[in-house]
Amino acid sequence: MTSTMSASPSSAPASTAPVNQPPRVLSGIQPTADSFQVGNYLGAIRRWVDLQETHDAFYCVVDQHAITVDYDPQVLRHRTLLSFAQLMAAGLDPQRATIFVQSHVPEHSQLSWVLQCMTGFGEAGRMTQFKDKSAREGADRSTVGLFTYPVLQAADILIYQADGVPVGEDQRQHLELTRDLAQRFNSRFGETFVVPTALIVADTAKILDLADPTSKMSKSSPSGCLFLLDDERVLTKKIKTAVTDSGREIALDRESKPGVSNLLSLIGAFTDRTPEQVATDLQGGGYGDLKTAAIDAVLSFTGPFAAAVAELMADPGELTRLMNLGAHRAREAAAPTLAAVYDRVGFVQLPD
Ligand code: TYM
Repeated sequence: MTSTMSASPSSAPASTAPVNQPPRVLSGIQPTADSFQVGNYLGAIRRWVDLQETHDAFYCVVDQHAITVDYDPQVLRHRTLLSFAQLMAAGLDPQRATIFVQSHVPEHSQLSWVLQCMTGFGEAGRMTQFKDKSAREGADRSTVGLFTYPVLQAADILIYQADGVPVGEDQRQHLELTRDLAQRFNSRFGETFVVPTALIVADTAKILDLADPTSKMSKSSPSGCLFLLDDERVLTKKIKTAVTDSGREIALDRESKPGVSNLLSLIGAFTDRTPEQVATDLQGGGYGDLKTAAIDAVLSFTGPFAAAVAELMADPGELTRLMNLGAHRAREAAAPTLAAVYDRVGFVQLPD
């Protein structure tokens, strides 16, 4: 989209991190299922847990994104709590990271409106996730919210001046749009936003569907999707029946052996090894050994995870207390950016 308005760029960014402040990261996850799946965990959340040690980390449950498709209010409320509990059960710590729910921080949608007014119609229409979802829903059932979804995602990131965004490969295009919008705003109104970088880990960027290793693991295809809160027997069965490839050799070759390579990535990620190391460790074994190793690796994580989630869900009062804490911290961080944006786009500021 070309910009035709002139601007009077001011030089100072809206928020300049203090000199010794660690770099900031932000990421989000939708509360659209009764459990996170292994792709969410290995592609994103596991990295979030590491980053809270070294970064100023912000992580949110994006409930406003979850209403862009059909939903039930009671189910959404439950899944939002459950998502928050799962983030903590996975190892996020409210003392180390700001963990919050998107709708508790109105600055996201306020910034989103300004960014929507700088996003081209064609530009939004080119987002592949929108094209896929709207093709599935049909034009009449697709909402305007689904269309502007990536702009709200850009606002989630830019409102915090995040330097990095840890996500799986499927979010790359949304991150490109975010970068474009930040640069467009900066060149039109003066340096305001940090232009963020996508942090994508190659080995686990795209965990594949166990029943169809040509597509990514996703809740929309439950038979090939390992949900973290699935029963042990269900997880075992899904892994046992995972599609492997022709031949009998356990080798990492993403082109000709996508099913085997996917299981190697999965085992490696759960046992802190590279997929190459796992392939070496299992050399000489058959696909049965590979699947047994995958079952052991997955269950060693999901067992304690499910127990921790159950414990957290037993105390919803404590969960909402922690949400409140996160919301306050997030709003404090978001407010200066919104104030700078409103000022720069020409909204009249009221005295305090
Ligand atoms: P969502 O909720 O679909 O997924 C959450 C995270 O999980 C990653 N992921 C995967 N990674 C590897 N392999 C897979 N099979 C797999 N499936 C899911 C996703 O890449 C994502 O990182 N639009 C986002 C939510 C969002 C967001 C944000 C993310 C809203 N605002 C701001 C980052 C920053 C989404 O739908 O993620």
